[in-house]
Amino acid sequence: MKLKIKMKNKNERLSEVVGLAPVIPVLQFNDPEIAVQTSRALVAGGLPVIEITLRTPQALACISAVAKQVEGAVVGAGTVMTPGMMRDCVEIGCQFLVSPGATQDLIEANQKVDVPLLPGVATPSEAMGLMAEGYEFLKFFPAEQAGGPQYLKSLAPVLQGLKFCPTGGLTAEKAPQYLALDNVVCVGGSWVAPKEKIAAGDWDGITELAAAASALDR
Ligand code: 3PG
Repeated sequence: MKLKIKMKNKNERLSEVVGLAPVIPVLQFNDPEIAVQTSRALVAGGLPVIEITLRTPQALACISAVAKQVEGAVVGAGTVMTPGMMRDCVEIGCQFLVSPGATQDLIEANQKVDVPLLPGVATPSEAMGLMAEGYEFLKFFPAEQAGGPQYLKSLAPVLQGLKFCPTGGLTAEKAPQYLALDNVVCVGGSWVAPKEKIAAGDWDGITELAAAASALDR
C-alpha cells in the first residue's frame, strides 16, 4: 500500500511557513553563490521564506546551497511541474513546494512525500478540487492577470476556509491591496530582489527592499 502523508500535518507546516513573513520572494538563479548571497540579503531584511523556481539548469544546486548555507532561510522550490521534479526537490532538502497549477499526478505524488505543496489555482473549480483533497493553502496565480484583489475578494465568502498566497505581477505598491484581504495569508513576488540589483551585487539594496516588504501589514 502506498504511503499517504496526512494533509493535516502538511497544512500545519504550511501555516507556519506562510506565517513567517508577509512576502515570499520568488526568485530564479543559475549560480548557487549568487543564490546564497541574495538569500542572505533577504533574510537580513526580514524575509526568511524564499521560493527558488526550477527554471534553470542549476536551480536544484541553488536550492541546495541556500538550504545548507543560509542561516535562518526556509527554502522552497517553485515551478514544480512533475512528480519527478517534486522528488528531486524533496531529496535535496526543500522545505516546501510550489506549483503554478495542479495535476492529479502532482497531487498523488505529494501524498507520498513529507513536504507540503502550495498548489496554484486561478478559478473556483480548481480551488474546490484542491479543497476536496484537503488543501487549505493555495497560490493564486497569476494574480494580477487572473483578476487581482477584487477577484480574490469575491472568492472569500464562497470558498470559506481557504487561504491564498497571490503571486504574479505584484509590486511593492500592489502587495498591500492583497494583504488587506481576509483570505490572503501572504503574497509572493520577485520585486524584492530585482535582477539589476542581483547583477550589481547590491545586497544592501535588496536588504532594504526586503525590510520594506517585511514591514507590510497583513
Ligand atoms: C513567478 O512564477 O515567477 C512568480 O509568479 C513571480 O512573478 P513576478 O515576477 O511577477 O513577481
